[in-house]
Amino acid sequence: MIFDELWAEFSQELKFLGTNVTAEVVQGLKVSYLGKKGKVSGLMKQMGGLSATERPQFGKKVNDLKAKVAEAIEVLADQAEAAKLSQELAEGYTDVSQKGRGIPAGSLHPINVVRDQIIDFFTGLGFAVEDGREVETDWYNFEALNIPPEHPARDTQDTFYVDKDIVLRTQTSDVQVHVMENQKPPIRMIAPGKVYRVDHDATHAPMFHQVEGLVVDEEISFAQLKGILYMWVKELFGESAKIRFRPHYFPFTEPSAEMDVFFDPDGKGGRWMEIGGCGSVDPAVFEKLGIDPDRYTGFAFGFGIDRITMVKYGIPEIGLLTANDNRFLSQF
Ligand code: DAH
Repeated sequence: MIFDELWAEFSQELKFLGTNVTAEVVQGLKVSYLGKKGKVSGLMKQMGGLSATERPQFGKKVNDLKAKVAEAIEVLADQAEAAKLSQELAEGYTDVSQKGRGIPAGSLHPINVVRDQIIDFFTGLGFAVEDGREVETDWYNFEALNIPPEHPARDTQDTFYVDKDIVLRTQTSDVQVHVMENQKPPIRMIAPGKVYRVDHDATHAPMFHQVEGLVVDEEISFAQLKGILYMWVKELFGESAKIRFRPHYFPFTEPSAEMDVFFDPDGKGGRWMEIGGCGSVDPAVFEKLGIDPDRYTGFAFGFGIDRITMVKYGIPEIGLLTANDNRFLSQF
């Protein structure tokens, strides 16, 4: 009987394969037995020569055989899958006894190293550390600091405007205003943070870091300011550092001064570099913020952390600090 013969042939083929079953072999069997032009489907062609009464029975037998072959192929497919998996595991196994590859440790950014040293110095003297915001209103960045609308510091050449009254802060002095609005003297704080200006050359970057300082109490003097700054700068750069303190003007301090450090990164003679401004808090600022100028005096300062870092490590260009070059950064 043709059905038994075909089944026997199929079984013979399986026997011949043994355990040598792959997905390709399974696919080949599928095509040659169950495909459109396959052997089982081919039986259907013989139906034409049968009588109407014989046909249903023949059809049923073809379908039974088809189901049997399909089931056997299904089992083979599972075997092929399992064989493939165990082979992959054998080839690609993980040797858990092998040493790991190691992840190189990073290092603190030089700006953060210097910022942390500054924080250590001032917290050691009892200063609090205040946080600020980089997007600031005109009041905090300018107006409350006694910088009137026509002052050159407001010129759009220096300031990134977000909106008419909103700026990227150009100085950390805005934190002075927040602190004086919210705290009563005695005040002793520093505020490190990012500031922004439309400026770009070897010693100016559009984003840089400052640290602000503010002390307000009874009988605070300019001499105390000078004393603390000298102590601080000598700690930063060493006793032999060349420092210059010279008169200057800021709208929110009176008198005001700037501090320079001698900077000679390449031994070619060097030059003075300004690292910050300072002064006694102008009574006009106290008045704007509701602090009694007859009772309280204060001093304030704002120093550039990037420039301090440049002098400390002899870095000739401010841009190196933000270039993200690991060869440079890993030295600190
Ligand atoms: N904010 C000033 C600047 O960025 C620096 C400064 C000067 C800060 C005098 C002060 C100060 O607190 O008293 O140029």
